[in-house]
Amino acid sequence: MDSGSQQDFATRLAAVAAETDALLERLLGDQALPGEIVRPQRLLAAMRHAVLGGGKRLRPFLLVETATLFGASRDGALLTGAALECLHCYSLVHDDLPAMDDDDLRRGLPTVHKAFDQATAILAGDALLTLAFDCVARADVHPDADVRIALVMALARAAGLGGMAGGQMLDLAAEGRFDRKRILPENEIATMQAMKTGGLIGFACRAGAILGQADAAARVAIDRYGAAVGQAYQIADDLLDVEGDSATLGKTAGKDAAAGKATLVAALGAASARARLDALIGQADVALAPFGAKADILRAAARFIAQRQR
Ligand code: IPE
Ligand code: IPE
Ligand code: MG
Ligand code: MG
Ligand code: MG
Repeated sequence: MDSGSQQDFATRLAAVAAETDALLERLLGDQALPGEIVRPQRLLAAMRHAVLGGGKRLRPFLLVETATLFGASRDGALLTGAALECLHCYSLVHDDLPAMDDDDLRRGLPTVHKAFDQATAILAGDALLTLAFDCVARADVHPDADVRIALVMALARAAGLGGMAGGQMLDLAAEGRFDRKRILPENEIATMQAMKTGGLIGFACRAGAILGQADAAARVAIDRYGAAVGQAYQIADDLLDVEGDSATLGKTAGKDAAAGKATLVAALGAASARARLDALIGQADVALAPFGAKADILRAAARFIAQRQR
């Protein structure tokens, strides 16, 4: 990938991030929607704290760019991307709770339970999860209701028992919280990460194909890409926990080893985990081969995922 493509990538990521931020600001306004009664100010403030001001918006970016690859409307993709970001932010709010990873810092700010309180953080997460499905069901996402139903189902499967929430359960179980601690073999770490992180990243890519009503072969290819970058994303996160600093990351570094988290960095060492990450970026490239140069932006995204510093 030449530096021109990485430059293009930075510009296009900034564009999607700005458009997503504007949309999220609108979605989290204080005007009650039809069917709502009132929007309690404290809960709304906690949701806004969780979602606005920070965040790389990488999931909305992958969603909008895969939608573009398949010729879908940008506005529908942006709304779906904003929905996904709400769901992602909910997962972070709950991930940071004392009962889970017990973190005080997120995106350079106090976590929601620190800025507010635990009950408010739990409810902010609940309301963000629900808002995600509200958004995806809206007619602005796509004129064909069958497409919207397909998105709802894919999002539910990515986020629920056999996806993100299930992966979070396996992550906590691997710490030895519920049973005697057991060293997880590599394939079990990969499964846990494919669920907890790969679920939402995979949805970002799949949603672009659903919105663009891509054919079956294209869906298989884009799913392969999503699986590779999803796995790469968590390996990069786990490397940054060891090698990064809290100020740059905007979250406390060095916590995974202290908590006894099962990561590929702990299992293989940093150098081998980095090699695995590079191999996954190669796999992402291979998956994109059928799309030729039209997918260069997604190739650049994979490189960014491997090289990111925060
Ligand atoms: C952090 O996600 C949690 C993981 C799944 C690794 P991001 O690194 O995408 O966090 P933000 O949204 O940019 O803050
Ligand atoms: C997060 O994994 C996965 C989620 C589903 C939120 P981590 O627990 O490693 O994410 P950070 O490091 O707190 O952002
Ligand atoms: Mg966690
Ligand atoms: Mg965490
Ligand atoms: Mg982490």
